[in-house]
Amino acid sequence: MKVLALLGSPRRNGNTSLLLDQYLKGITAANKDVKITRIFLQEKKIQNCSACEACRKTTIGKCTIKDDMQELYPLFWKADMVIYATPVYWWGVSAQLKAFMDRCYALGLIEDSFAGKKVTLLMTYGGELPNKGPGLIKTAFAEICDYKNMDLVHVYGVCTDDYMPAAENTKALNDVYEMGMNV
Ligand SMILES: Cc1cc2nc3c(=O)[nH]c(=O)nc-3n(C[C@H](O)[C@H](O)[C@H](O)COP(=O)(O)O)c2cc1C
Repeated sequence: MKVLALLGSPRRNGNTSLLLDQYLKGITAANKDVKITRIFLQEKKIQNCSACEACRKTTIGKCTIKDDMQELYPLFWKADMVIYATPVYWWGVSAQLKAFMDRCYALGLIEDSFAGKKVTLLMTYGGELPNKGPGLIKTAFAEICDYKNMDLVHVYGVCTDDYMPAAENTKALNDVYEMGMNV
């Protein structure tokens, strides 16, 4: 199984990173035959989609913007599972993750570039529930997965700032570890 793990937080060692790592540890513990590629999106050069539509009209399936997405496209395409880990920013995903997702528009005409993948969504957020941010992102991912015939296997969110840092949240760390083991 090939897993592409995307860290959407700009903080390399923040809450979202920790949550992602626990989930990956769970996957590794339970699956011997797994290849995980973990990408820290913040350090990648990913321009915003320019909506030039070349990927749909001329280059079909290929984005003409020459940046780090060119190395990420094959990783996404070949992945059996994609893990999206993001802090909630303004009731949505981080800009780093959104840029990646928008650029995946280029793969839209390639058959099976999305279909059949397992998807996991991990979120951290500052405001305690009821906080509509995580729910809105979950709804968006459910729609995306439905549209692209992907299987949203796990969704997990945890409050950090107003509650406690993920590093001290034993329950959250155990929860995601066990979720990872059940991939
Ligand atoms: C630009 C920005 C926007 C944010 N917007 C929200 C928000 O809309 N809702 C929320 O609950 N927390 C919000 N937060 C708090 C973060 O989601 C929270 O601190 C998160 O755990 C940070 O993850 P990290 O430790 O990986 O950086 C925001 C933080 C930043 C920096």
